[in-house]
Amino acid sequence: MTASLEQLRRCHFAVDLGAARTRVYVKGAGLVVDQPSAAAVNTRTGALIAVGEFAEKMTGRTPDYIRVVRPVSGGTVVDIEMAQRMLRHLLGDKVRRTLRRKPRLRAAACTPHDADPLAQRAAIETLVGLGARRVELVDTLIAAAVGCGLPVERPEATMIMVCGAAATQVAVLSLGSIVTAERIAVGGEAVDHAIVQHLRHEHELVLPSQSVRPLQLALSGNGLTPHGPASTEIHGRDVATGLARSVQVDTAAVRDAIQTPLTAVLDGIGKVLRDCPPDLVADLADRGIMMVGGSALLPGFDQMLREATGMPVHIAERPDVCAVQGLGTMLEGKIEPLELDPLAT
Ligand SMILES: Nc1ncnc2c1ncn2[C@@H]1O[C@H](COP(=O)(O)OP(=O)(O)OP(=O)(O)O)[C@@H](O)[C@H]1O
Ligand SMILES: [Mg+2]
Repeated sequence: MTASLEQLRRCHFAVDLGAARTRVYVKGAGLVVDQPSAAAVNTRTGALIAVGEFAEKMTGRTPDYIRVVRPVSGGTVVDIEMAQRMLRHLLGDKVRRTLRRKPRLRAAACTPHDADPLAQRAAIETLVGLGARRVELVDTLIAAAVGCGLPVERPEATMIMVCGAAATQVAVLSLGSIVTAERIAVGGEAVDHAIVQHLRHEHELVLPSQSVRPLQLALSGNGLTPHGPASTEIHGRDVATGLARSVQVDTAAVRDAIQTPLTAVLDGIGKVLRDCPPDLVADLADRGIMMVGGSALLPGFDQMLREATGMPVHIAERPDVCAVQGLGTMLEGKIEPLELDPLAT
């Protein structure tokens, strides 16, 4: 699916429409948008009230006639029209004016590893609605690998793990292409959900969404591995009375609760390794796994992987923006075509 570097170099902007965040790179200007993929809509008039950060803050706090919608779900654009309206607002007048001046506007987008034709179509339609005459698609795994500076073009294996909100994608890359890959439908959202459900069941406490992160931090100390503090105080709302209440939460129990989604990720890594030719597995044992994506920042996730796989595990410098930065690198022509894509001409 990945477009040739020659075509990518002709693109003017690149978009990573994620389940959690939308990111846009404009050639020559860099990363211009990094905002939540959310829009608040007035359901009576259909008018857009807010997008991005503002819309996200409104979640759960709106009157009946305002709804916060997420046009991207599970890594796929599910509401093309809303995604276009959201992108237009996020880009702002100035950037849109610059892009409109291009005689034949070209865009690039990254799509999840095994995106089906319908999902690819939706990504293309979204950008065509923004004025693009041509849209190039790039596999997120390749974009992210380029974005974190992995030597993808060499004949050595590298393993990348894109930890997104809706999914985790794992791949072994060699010579600029994917050798084996797996997409696991478990990401940061599933981990957050497991924590919220645990508190609801065990402590009859409703946890506001912004309190999930502090609890994750308490799990660390040394993370999902059992070296952190034994318990931590969490504020929430009683399920029955609706009143504010705080409880001492046993961190070991929360750690157990998030094992289910994390085990699914480990299974995926195992499958990729089993499918990988033995010569490449030897390279991987030395080089280890590179983690990118926002959920790579989940405290202690890297340590857990290190213990479970026995391999070295690294987190990219800015894991959350690797995919869009990788697209940017390709747009700016900072990779020689012969290095990454020998057959492209
Ligand atoms: N510091 C952090 N600690 C733990 N989790 C984090 C942190 N920062 C971001 N996340 C999680 O990372 C996820 C967002 O990651 P990312 O921005 O890569 O998602 P996305 O690209 O929108 O999703 P996808 O690629 O699955 O469509 C969210 O689930 C968020 O909870
Ligand atoms: Mg992503």
